[in-house]
Amino acid sequence: MTTQNLAAIILAAGKGTRMKSSLPKVLQPLAGFPLAAYPIQNSQQLGCAPIVMVVGHQSELVQEAFSDQQVLFVEQAQQLGTAHAVQMAQPVLQDFTGTLLLLCGDVPLLRQETLQQLLIDHHHAGAVVSVLTAYMDNPTGYGRIIRDGDCVEKIVEEKDTTAEEKKVQEINTGLYALEAPLAFELLAQISNQNSQGEYYLTDIIALARKQGHKVSASVLNDSAESLGINDRVQLSQAAKILRQRINHDHMVAGVTLIDPDATYIDSQVTIGNDTTIYPGAQLRGTTKIGCHCTIEAGAVIDSCVVGDNSIIKAGSALEESTLGEYSTVGPMAHLRPGTFLKGHNKIGNFVETKKSTIGLYSQASHLTYIGDAELGQNVNLGCGTITCNYDGVNKHKTIIEDDVFVGSDTQFIAPVTIGRNSLIGAGSTITKDVPADSLALSRTPQKNILGWRNRNKK
Ligand code: UD1
Ligand code: CA
Repeated sequence: MTTQNLAAIILAAGKGTRMKSSLPKVLQPLAGFPLAAYPIQNSQQLGCAPIVMVVGHQSELVQEAFSDQQVLFVEQAQQLGTAHAVQMAQPVLQDFTGTLLLLCGDVPLLRQETLQQLLIDHHHAGAVVSVLTAYMDNPTGYGRIIRDGDCVEKIVEEKDTTAEEKKVQEINTGLYALEAPLAFELLAQISNQNSQGEYYLTDIIALARKQGHKVSASVLNDSAESLGINDRVQLSQAAKILRQRINHDHMVAGVTLIDPDATYIDSQVTIGNDTTIYPGAQLRGTTKIGCHCTIEAGAVIDSCVVGDNSIIKAGSALEESTLGEYSTVGPMAHLRPGTFLKGHNKIGNFVETKKSTIGLYSQASHLTYIGDAELGQNVNLGCGTITCNYDGVNKHKTIIEDDVFVGSDTQFIAPVTIGRNSLIGAGSTITKDVPADSLALSRTPQKNILGWRNRNKK
């Protein structure tokens, strides 16, 4: 039994032929999330329950992608048209009485307020069916809204239009509010006697009117919101519009974007105020950036947490890592998953880290690999330090305690533990644990052969 009276149906069974992709269309990524994640998010925010997604083409992949969401999936094995697609949701909505919000899996730019307005207009009009419409300079390809005075009379698909109807610029965005269970009774009466031999959902308008039911239309202010994605040109257009919205919101919230047209921020990223972001930076996934940070050109930060007052320098790549405040990374550093900088750290150029914790004020300024390691506080790794964590079969840990100073060109053959406050001489290969407060050296003693050059002259 459904207790709420707003449910959503998301149509996502289509093949998306024009994408020319091995991926189903509704899984094409847009600002870091698959296309259909956007209508799902809209439905969730509006409190729709249940949210039913009609899947068909590559349905296992689509279901898997959204398996962590509160979504019910129904299969439309054969894509016989949009009306047929909606009918597939009927079995799971048998007990539902209320309003159905009908969304498309490939229309990602709709704003929450627009859908709210559609629902307000729908209820205000006391309609059984309401459609969201828009005015297009070029309406070619869309279903046209044919009005009788102020009232919507019917929707005519492009392929079925007369010359006169083709001139109509008000189009069907493909989004509706419908009253259930009445809408399902009407859907059952729709035929496929049209030029495409499809069951057109759009026919529900004329049918409802004929049977004396009220229909209404809400007009979209910004027609760009209804952009449907059919090919990669439209995908890039939608990405650009979404980017402008996302970047605008960050700037209004106090983030400086040096060039918002060249800054790529996924839709779920958060950024603190007084942070400055340079062109070409990409903030992806669930990244959270603190206040007063600087993100330089070409930094790619994927699903990381970056503490306040940190600087990520040019060309650095950070993945699934956590950085405490006042961290400096790069240029050209690579923080791989599981890196945890506790704060006030310096990770310099050509340093790679992986699955490692680095204590407060510790640093590795140049050309270093830190993998499967645990570093305490105030540790200094010299240029060219390498944790040799892999013996070809297993990974092993390197533990370096507080206040250790590591000379340049040192290799730690893990598993190995370096006691606190010890010193490792440059050029050492450390294979055994080092006790606290000691000096460890492992170099072959230097030999000087006097006069050698002169004796060997050609
Ligand atoms: C549809 C509308 C048209 C409107 C346009 C807006 C109809 C008959 N026409 O046309 O008036 O202007 O959207 O973009 O409704 N789908 C299924 N199963 C099917 C058919 C479609 O799930 O059997 C899904 C598609 O995956 C897509 C959506 O429904 O998400 C719309 O289908 P599509 O074929 O793109 O409709 P249009 O021809 O664009
Ligand atoms: Ca079609």
